[in-house]
Amino acid sequence: MADTKKLTTSWGAPVGDNQNSITAGNPGPTLIQDVHLIEKLAHFNRERVPERVVHAKGAGAHGYFEVTNDMSKYTKAKVFNGVGKRTPVFVRFSTVAGELGSADTVRDPRGFAVKFYTEEGNYDIVGNNTPIFFIRDAIKFPDFIHTQKRDPRTHLKNPTAMWDFWSLSPESLHQVTYLFGDRGIPLTYRHMNGYGSHTFKWVNEKGEAVWVKYHFKTNQGVKNMDPELAVKIAGENPDYHTEDLYNAIEKGDYPSWTLYVQIMPLEDAKTYRFNPFDVTKVWSHKDYPLIEVGRMVLNRNPENYFAEVEQATFSPGNLVPGVEPSPDKMLQARLFAYADAHRYRVGVNHNLLPINRPRVEVNNYQRDGFMRFDNNGGGSVNYEPNSFGGPTEVSEHKTTPFPVSGMAESVPYDDDDHYTQAGDLYRLMSEEEKARLVKNIVESLKQVTKEEIKLRQIRHFYKADPDYGRRVAEGLGLQVPDDVITNA
Ligand code: HEM
Repeated sequence: MADTKKLTTSWGAPVGDNQNSITAGNPGPTLIQDVHLIEKLAHFNRERVPERVVHAKGAGAHGYFEVTNDMSKYTKAKVFNGVGKRTPVFVRFSTVAGELGSADTVRDPRGFAVKFYTEEGNYDIVGNNTPIFFIRDAIKFPDFIHTQKRDPRTHLKNPTAMWDFWSLSPESLHQVTYLFGDRGIPLTYRHMNGYGSHTFKWVNEKGEAVWVKYHFKTNQGVKNMDPELAVKIAGENPDYHTEDLYNAIEKGDYPSWTLYVQIMPLEDAKTYRFNPFDVTKVWSHKDYPLIEVGRMVLNRNPENYFAEVEQATFSPGNLVPGVEPSPDKMLQARLFAYADAHRYRVGVNHNLLPINRPRVEVNNYQRDGFMRFDNNGGGSVNYEPNSFGGPTEVSEHKTTPFPVSGMAESVPYDDDDHYTQAGDLYRLMSEEEKARLVKNIVESLKQVTKEEIKLRQIRHFYKADPDYGRRVAEGLGLQVPDDVITNA
């Protein structure tokens, strides 16, 4: 007993009895003077914070990133400079559509969010396990996510809404083909790749810029889960992926990923055969081969899930000198959306929490707000310009200037080729992979209640590859519409 810590109230006073509330005699009633009881109940009532509006279910781990190939030719970002340079990271993997307690082994993209605690502040790559996305303009994101979440009337998942949206948004075809293929259900979080997905800009010390895409390749090998097994596991152990990651790290079997980049000269963007800022497209590896950058290892489990995983806030807007946004319309909106979500979900001072706090000194003129729990800048000057030696800007780190042109208006993308890359992905698959893809699609599409939606979607598959369209149609017992065949 000698080593047991004293139980205290939140205010540090010793608690006299933690098993019996104070009552007026036996049986009671209970007295309001039992402040300890009231504090316990009141705090318990406030234990929940809003879950992430997407990517609510996830697992995280700490580790490090080590540079194996110096990138200073392309970027001045210190995190990618100097072979052997190590930077601490925190990574969170997640599913997208399910709630905080939903099953891990569902067909869904997986989030792959990496926070680098660099010597120049936090750098977040908030990517997925797919190099592409369903839509390419952020204005469609809330509508798209509504179709992935629960139906407002039945509170059930709604395949009709999903396929209605996808069939009316053919830019989704590439990602849909990816999602319903084998990679739609990874074996574990350790056995999947991660992608930054968007194009970013890298800038070197001389101010020279290139376009860049990130690829984290798993060193455990890409392995996927059979859909029937996934359904079984979802029932038996909905936290299968969470448990797998925790157990692997706990027993010293540290998962790792090799980070590669594709680099595109700025000039190429104007003439490349696909819009390089369209997140529904990939860059051919033949055109822009993978260049190794370093290795990421996860070697420490969180001590406390809520403090470190739930309260972690990743934002594509957390950039460091040497990394800048591209004009990708999805990325541009994400630069806003995440920090906004964090202020709502965790609070305006979420950046001060240990998991989010940069590992460098933070000096600025932001003050106050709910739960400001550091010294709030103490007595230092809180405005700029000032004559009291307050922190000053570092002009060498201004965003590099770039030209813009055109009319300000709601402009659509100028290409509608949603089919070439989706078809390429289909043609890349083995016969067995194609059969599984078609089976998975048919299983899902057959739940759709409107025939016109199925036919509309079959048209898209057919345009990507006639074989693809024909096989899905056959699986559904439908005819490919004649005009689709004649126009192919
Ligand atoms: C989470 C918005 C597209 C990857 C989130 C969250 C929001 C959001 C509000 C919750 C943030 C939080 O509460 O912490 C959006 C919007 C998008 C978009 C508006 C499109 C315009 C994407 C894309 C990717 C992605 C294209 C991947 C390439 C993620 C990941 C998380 C996330 C990985 C979870 C981060 C974590 O683990 O905390 N998104 N998203 N999102 N999003 Fe997006």
